[in-house]
Amino acid sequence: MRKFALVIALFGAVAVHAEQKNVQLLTNLSDWQLGAVMDNFTASLGVHCDTCHVRNEETKQWDFPNDAKQEKKTAREMIRLVLDVNEKSFHGHTVVGCYTCHRGKESPSLMVALPVPPIPPTKSEAEETAERKAYPAAKDVAAKYVAAIGGEAAAKKLATAPMTAKASRVGGNGQAMPIEVYRSGGKFMMRGTPAEGPAMTQMYGPEGGWMTGRQGVHTITGGDAATALASARAYEPFDGTLPEKARVVGKETIDGHETWIVGASIDEHTRQRLYFDATTGLVLRRVVSMDSPVGRLPTQTDFDDYRDAAGVKVPFTVRVAGVNGGQSATRKYTSIDLGAPVDEKMFEAPK
Ligand code: HEC
Ligand code: HEC
Repeated sequence: MRKFALVIALFGAVAVHAEQKNVQLLTNLSDWQLGAVMDNFTASLGVHCDTCHVRNEETKQWDFPNDAKQEKKTAREMIRLVLDVNEKSFHGHTVVGCYTCHRGKESPSLMVALPVPPIPPTKSEAEETAERKAYPAAKDVAAKYVAAIGGEAAAKKLATAPMTAKASRVGGNGQAMPIEVYRSGGKFMMRGTPAEGPAMTQMYGPEGGWMTGRQGVHTITGGDAATALASARAYEPFDGTLPEKARVVGKETIDGHETWIVGASIDEHTRQRLYFDATTGLVLRRVVSMDSPVGRLPTQTDFDDYRDAAGVKVPFTVRVAGVNGGQSATRKYTSIDLGAPVDEKMFEAPK
């Protein structure tokens, strides 16, 4: 759990220190992955860890392996139920999760709420086909976005140029912290000093990462590295390229803006949806979901306040929300530089 808390918390205040001792069903998960599943439990049921887990009153230490609470035992039966239903009824795909039934409540509704609201008439197949035919092609939606941010050269710059930025980061706890962000060659680094100190640095790259802070230097490797990199990438604006299979799947209104939703899965277990403003062409939202054995884990990024930075229109306000409070934050950039070289030495872990 230690690794998980450091990685996913991303400057958050959560600190869990344990090892896996009594995990009977959720086996084969890294500490980070198990932690993310636990966060998803709390979010799906609208509870805290202590609904299921025991905390020693005197030492204030968590005893996560302890099975004393009935809720934990019930939760284990529920894990079994979810694993079985996905295996037997959904060809082993992650379809059902705790949220499917619980919807943010400890006790799911056992009946429909009355009175039943008016139900719209069933659409005929012809109507549905006609509706889908009116959707634009995903590649045209992407092209409109590229034009909106400044054209092909601007999109290429956004995707590949080194970046140096300054921002204010407001975490889930409401505290603001000035940060510096650096990006180069697929690596990301963030530096900041929280109010309660000391300075913290996080670096994530394709070959792993490291972080420094109160607990010294920690290296991030293996499966956790990929997930850590994904959480750093959650702040990245869309670079204009869509996978071959991407297509428009519907429309939705976000804060009064009509958007086209493009489904653009990253791989079999990582789904992605991009919401393009139908008028301006800009991306307003991205939702990435990762499969876990007991439900999909979502991360949502909202992009706002697009402004010019070195000839590219980029969002100056980026809000990331996930099932873990520490992972959720708003970044408001005060300056973004694209193209100025970044000294790659800074990505090396301190000794
Ligand atoms: C709805 C109940 C529930 C909630 C809420 C919950 N857990 Fe769990 N947790 C479980 C169950 C059940 C297991 C055992 C899973 C298994 O046996 O496969 C478990 C296992 C764990 C373990 C592994 C313990 C060991 O055996 O070594 C840790 C650590 C953990 N949880 C941390 C957390 C944290 C941190 C939170 C809050 C963010 C949390 N849990 C919230 C039900 C819950
Ligand atoms: C198929 C629907 C369904 C799914 C999926 C589901 N649950 Fe439940 N769960 C229920 C129902 C229904 C109840 C309440 C049973 C009752 O009222 O007797 C319940 C009760 C519980 C309780 C006891 C709550 C209390 O008030 O004591 C816990 C804890 C729980 N579920 C955890 C989970 C977790 C964790 C998951 C995901 C691994 C999950 N459930 C997935 C339907 C579901």
